[in-house]
Amino acid sequence: MAVIAARCPEWRVTVVDNNADRIAAWNADDPSQFPVYEPGLAELVLATRGRNLFFSTDVEAAIAAAGLIFISVNTPTKTYGMGKGMAADLKFIESCARTIAAVAKEDKIIVEKSTVPVRTAATIKEILDHTGSGTNFQVLSNPEFLAEGTAIEDLLHADRILIGGDMKRDAAAVQVLVDIYAHWVPRERILTANVWSSELSKLTANAFLAQRVSSINAMAELCEKTHADVREVARAIGMDSRIGPKFLEVSAGFGGSCFQKDILNLIYIARSYGLSEVAEYWEQVIRLNDHQRARFARKLVAALFNNVADKKIAFLGWAFKKDTNDSRESSAIYIADYLIHERARICAYDPKVTSEQMWTDLNALDSRPAEINAEHLTAAASLDAACTDAHAVALLTDWDQFKEADWRSIYERMVKPAFIFDGRNLLDRSEMEAIGFIYHGTGC
Ligand code: UGA
Repeated sequence: MAVIAARCPEWRVTVVDNNADRIAAWNADDPSQFPVYEPGLAELVLATRGRNLFFSTDVEAAIAAAGLIFISVNTPTKTYGMGKGMAADLKFIESCARTIAAVAKEDKIIVEKSTVPVRTAATIKEILDHTGSGTNFQVLSNPEFLAEGTAIEDLLHADRILIGGDMKRDAAAVQVLVDIYAHWVPRERILTANVWSSELSKLTANAFLAQRVSSINAMAELCEKTHADVREVARAIGMDSRIGPKFLEVSAGFGGSCFQKDILNLIYIARSYGLSEVAEYWEQVIRLNDHQRARFARKLVAALFNNVADKKIAFLGWAFKKDTNDSRESSAIYIADYLIHERARICAYDPKVTSEQMWTDLNALDSRPAEINAEHLTAAASLDAACTDAHAVALLTDWDQFKEADWRSIYERMVKPAFIFDGRNLLDRSEMEAIGFIYHGTGC
């Protein structure tokens, strides 16, 4: 919305949320208080807030005043009832639709921005069409493809914008949305499609991206057995223009709020249509990812002489990727859990994730009482503090500052032999070995 406000000065954009603390944080003078850290976002908000971008808790007034409403609530994996652990929970989507239905007195264009199962637009339309107020609603799908950490760049230079609508019934509404994006996106990159294709394209894109990560991570494991180097393999296959060079970087498993959730949802949808082979195919992407996390932890324990009890392990990075403060589904959480089962003492440093967030993440796994988690997981205020007296470094997030750290002085602070487990292949093996580290890369 900040990008739309910046690029479309004639539109007045109001972001509403029931959560008053969150809205207050977006209205804070100090941008470090904003709820989301994203390079370039604070500057955009500061430039547009109060001009044509507003943050408010008055949901109903904003609905009444708007011609176009983006539903952008979360659609987490269901934690109860039918589809528990698989299906997307649409309760927030439904409550948005009901609030709009109750408030709207004039025609509105409703844009599904949240990631939703295919055919959700039909549910929204049905709720809206039964208001009895005679109001005309047009429901469009406009999935978001930005990635965290590069969100603003991704939006400003979008590969494509996808707008789904019924071209007979919704043509005028589709045109309104096309015109908004056309302020900064070349027209040939704005695609229109039928609503169901648009909804399904979002799940498909995430499934394909996650599958690529699982594929390269699977090859990393095979490389470790065969003395091939996964970076060389990735380079060689990436130069095939049909495969392409992006998204072939190894990790201790992908994280983030989207990949796992969306694939689970895809699996659930496939099963609900009786497509068990399709469901099983995508299930493997998740299984492989869970395996990578366990494999990273097992490798660390095995190298530390099968014993990490009471040993300090420095975690470098807790966020699921660099340049974000988001730690949802981060592999660090699962690896910490595994190592705490082995009674390790973890000291984590992340430039953007707070210690409270780390404990919240770990406690959410419900593996042991919170007091024990607090005893075994501490957060350090600096990279140096995390590594002092540590037996091993687990490098889990690809923050640039980890690459640029003074590894010689870190080595001096650590217990010997000093190990590095580089889950991102961020560091140079020969440099680390020259310093004295026992270096374990991933797939190399
Ligand atoms: C992902 C998609 O990339 C976006 O297109 C999509 O809009 C978004 O989900 C969403 O549905 O909201 P995001 O989760 O923010 O974006 O981040 P990614 O860059 O895709 O990274 C996901 C995970 O995969 C991270 O843990 C990352 O470190 C890992 N990854 C990514 C790898 O391990 N290797 C790679 O080569 C690339």
